Order: sequence, then structure tokens, then C-alpha cells
Amino acid sequence: MLSLQRPLLAACLYLLLPCSHSKILWYTNGFHYQDLSNGNGKDEIYFNGIRLHVESPQHSVSATTGSNVTLPCHYHYEPELTTPRRTRVRWFWLPTYANATPPEAFARESKVMVAMGNSHRSYGSFKGRVRLRRSAPGDMSLVINELQLDDTGRYRCEVIDGLEDESVTVKLALSGVAFPYYSRKGRYHFNFFGAQQACQDQDATLATFEQLFAEWEDGLDWCNAGWLADGTVQYPIRDSRAVCGGKGVAPGVRSYGYRHKILHRFDAFCFTASIKGTVYYLNHTTKLNFTEAVQACANDGSQIAKVGQLYAAWKLTGLDCCNAGWLSDRSVRYPITNPRVNCGPTEPGVRCFGFPPPSVKFGVYCYR
Ligand SMILES: *[C@@H]1O[C@H](CO)[C@@H](O)[C@H](O)[C@H]1NC(C)=O
Ligand SMILES: *[C@@H]1O[C@H](CO)[C@@H](O)[C@H](O)[C@H]1NC(C)=O
Ligand SMILES: *[C@@H]1O[C@H](CO)[C@@H](O)[C@H](O)[C@H]1NC(C)=O
Repeated sequence: MLSLQRPLLAACLYLLLPCSHSKILWYTNGFHYQDLSNGNGKDEIYFNGIRLHVESPQHSVSATTGSNVTLPCHYHYEPELTTPRRTRVRWFWLPTYANATPPEAFARESKVMVAMGNSHRSYGSFKGRVRLRRSAPGDMSLVINELQLDDTGRYRCEVIDGLEDESVTVKLALSGVAFPYYSRKGRYHFNFFGAQQACQDQDATLATFEQLFAEWEDGLDWCNAGWLADGTVQYPIRDSRAVCGGKGVAPGVRSYGYRHKILHRFDAFCFTASIKGTVYYLNHTTKLNFTEAVQACANDGSQIAKVGQLYAAWKLTGLDCCNAGWLSDRSVRYPITNPRVNCGPTEPGVRCFGFPPPSVKFGVYCYR
């Protein structure tokens, strides 16, 4: 018996385990197990020589709002186990707007789901909206139903098994479009909360830096600063020029940093990923003033479209129409995916005529 215990003791010391209080057992599959009587009444079996691996084939996932999304996470043991083990899985979420890096980030994470065996529990805004996929042994992928605009961020899948505790992080982004937005009352009208509300009114949210940056990569050049979700004020510049942050400065997203959320006023960068309905240019025999436009959509069984809806239709479904039309905020715009003569600049985009007086006649974009 003594001769058997010796190599185990050496292995324990090497792993800095509390050997003195452990009962040592010898199983026949060639691996050393320890039965730790750790005083909490639960006799948990720990391993020597077996390792828990937690992995995700995708470190970032991108989806549209309203869809069901799967964040992959799998675990396995190396070498493989002969008897199943009791593991606990916890999914945590760090929202994009929390804007934190480890270790601070871990302290600010919130629980999404905890699962042990067949029982599980979901938390907060995820209650009843999440489940584990369990399509195979070790599949702990998180399925989120009816993805919402503010579900973005970092999700961490943690597998706990006795002493071992491994985790993997998956980033969830929304495929969508960030767009500049300013008030009918003029430029630089919104404080932070006004900007938040303005985006919401257009079926959007304030954009994150990542979302604005993605738009900059796609060619957005906009010389007016706008609020972002984290409370910073920034603007994307492709062609450096004196009036937009300096001529010699490299292109990029320029930042004014954090601004006073109540006192300081700017435009907004909104983000939308919604493609639930359909946006269409109303086929109407005559041009319409704003009141007539609202009524014409209602007569067609729909509603006058919001700016966010028009952007989403342009970016996500390729809506292309060379007719300017009223939108619900009393702006006039049209979406172009295939630039051509007489339809604005040479790049694709949503063209904007600003906010004409409501008596001027145009077409209208409706949403259903
Ligand atoms: C998402 O999942 C729910 C429940 O499983 C299902 O009812 C719904 O149709 C799914 N939605 C989509 C867009 O696949
Ligand atoms: C628009 O409406 C007119 C008559 O109301 C119809 O003749 C025409 O085909 C319609 N055009 C489209 C593109 O639906
Ligand atoms: C739009 O035209 C209607 C008549 O068709 C008129 O009653 C209404 O006042 C006009 N609205 C605006 C905002 O000019």
C-alpha cells in the first residue's frame, strides 16, 4: 500500500493539492484519482492527469435582431473519460457599452444562465429566452431567441468541474448599419439622452464604436461629430481635410472623448439591425406633402417608414430606389445600392434632402 501511495503523493505535491487531508484511491483505468474530503460534505473526485478543455470554433458571431443565434461552446476531457462527470456551466455577459477589459470586465459581467445536469436557470433580460443547445455530449452552446438590439457584447462560457475551471469568450455583434442622425431643429442639437431618444424614435439605438468603425471601413465619411453609446463623441473621416480635424492627419474615426451627457450637444450615430418588416416606395399617382404622405401609407395598410428602417432595408436587403420620399421624422431620403447617373454620388448610400418644409411635395417610403 505504501509503495502505491508514493508516486501519487509526488504528483499531488507537484500540483500543490492539499494532500494531507485527502484519501487516495487507485482505479484500474490507469489514472490517479483523489477523493478530497474538503469539509463541505460533498465528496468530489478530482483528477490527476486528465485535463478539461473548453473551446469555441467561433470567437465572434454576427446576427440580425429578431433572429435566433447560437454562441458555440464545447468541452471535452483529454484523455477521454470512461465515466460521465458532473459539470456546471455558467454563461456570463459583458454588454458592449460596459466597455471594460479584464480583470475589471469579469467584475462587471452579469449572469445569463447557469446549468447543472438537466436543471438550468436564466437571468435578467435573458429569462426564458436562452437555452443550451446540447446537440452532442459536451455541447454547451448558448442559444438566444429573438435577438434584441442591446444583446451585443462578450459572452463567456465557463465550465466548472471540481478543481478545474475553464472558460472561453465569444463576441456577439449585430449585422446592421450605423448612420449619422441630426435633429430637424438643427445641427448639434442633442445632448446624450436626446441622442439616445432620437435613435430610438428611428427604430435604432446609439451606435457603439465598433459599429461606427465598421461603417468607416465601408467608406463612411462624415464631418459632424455625434454621440456614441459609451458617451463619447466621434466622427469618421476618410478624406482628411482642414475643416474636419486637420488636413495632414491620417484618416480614421476622430474622437472628442467623453463629453458631458447633459450640457454638451452634438449629432448622433445610430445603429439599426432590424429587418422584420418591408420598406417600399409607395406607388402613388401624384406627389405628396408630408400630411398626405402619412395618410397615403395608412391608406395602403402600413406606416410611413422610419429612418432606421430605411437604412436597414438599404443595407440588409439592398433596397434601391431613385425617388426621394418622406420619412416619419419629416426628412426626405432615398436609398441607392447601385449608384448611377442622376441618383446622387458615385458611392452607394442613403441620400438625404434634409428636412424640407412639410408643404413641399415628394413621394413616400412606407413600412409594413
Ligand atoms: C426561434 O426559436 C423559437 C423557439 O425555438 C421559434 O419559435 C422561432 O420560430 C425561432 N425564430 C426564428 C427566426 O427562427
Ligand atoms: C403603379 O400604379 C399604376 C396605377 O395605379 C399601375 O399602372 C402601375 O403598374 C404601378 N406600378 C408599379 C411599379 O407597381
Ligand atoms: C397637405 O395638403 C392638404 C391638401 O391635400 C392640406 O390640407 C394640408 O394642409 C397640407 N399639409 C401641409 C403640411 O402642407
